Amino acid sequence: MQNTATDMVVATTITGVRESVANARAMGSTIGFVPTMGALHKGHLSLVERARKESSFTVMSIFVNPLQFAPTEDLAKYPRPVEDDERMARESGVDLLFRPAVEDMYPGKREVTVAAGEIASEWEGSSRPGHFDGVLTVVAKLFNIVQPDITVFGRKDLQQAALVAAMIHDLNMPVRMIIAPIVREGDGLALSSRNRYLSDDDRRSALSLHSALQEIRRAFARGVTSTVELEQIGRSVLDLTPNVRLDYLAVVSPTSLARNDDVSKTSAAIVAARVGSTRLIDNMTIGGDDEN
Ligand code: PAF
Repeated sequence: MQNTATDMVVATTITGVRESVANARAMGSTIGFVPTMGALHKGHLSLVERARKESSFTVMSIFVNPLQFAPTEDLAKYPRPVEDDERMARESGVDLLFRPAVEDMYPGKREVTVAAGEIASEWEGSSRPGHFDGVLTVVAKLFNIVQPDITVFGRKDLQQAALVAAMIHDLNMPVRMIIAPIVREGDGLALSSRNRYLSDDDRRSALSLHSALQEIRRAFARGVTSTVELEQIGRSVLDLTPNVRLDYLAVVSPTSLARNDDVSKTSAAIVAARVGSTRLIDNMTIGGDDEN
């Protein structure tokens, strides 16, 4: 029941999604779900690939969710390459593409939203107040609409992934979550919809985020286990790079996002910085065989 790259269904209504998913289930399919905001790149496609391995009917949503944008962030400017996105979704083997309008997702006054807990209080949460409440609210709604067996999120947004995992656990949502590895360009730059805003010079400077994380990994491999020291090593790489304004760099638990002194090989180094006028984030596991 997997898509052959031509027969993707595009649904714009909640009823349409429910019907299509019900048909797939009636034919014995298991449902995999990849929520996105579009502006698709190879990172998103790797999530689809993983969903297709783990389920037999893959649903992708493309919805630029106003609830997760602060009034200061330019929601209207968020890229919406509708035709390219649709083509890429189709070619990657998505079976059902859900593209709702804002009025379908948020038809009237809202009484209830999901409140993100402590994990949201720092890092992305402190520079984007309310952002994660908006993310969790839309993800909860999308889960209720699609009712997937599995869902795939990217590790690039580590704090988001940790919060969605916490929501699934705390609210007993019947979905298994898979966190897929970060996809990088050959030179290490983590794929992001925002990379399209980088000038050539900015792009060169943006590589320092990956270099800083790698330096932390190397230092940990040499035996440095002090959080403060590891963070300082990462910061010194960014301090030397032109055009980079550091927002935060920290060594944290990958699940609670708490910064603590118990650094272990599963700890994650996380970084956010403005490169030129583009804000980028990245992260890396500090030990083990694999950066992800
Ligand atoms: O990661 C994203 O693209 C968004 O935050 C998500 C999960 C699709 C919710 O709008």
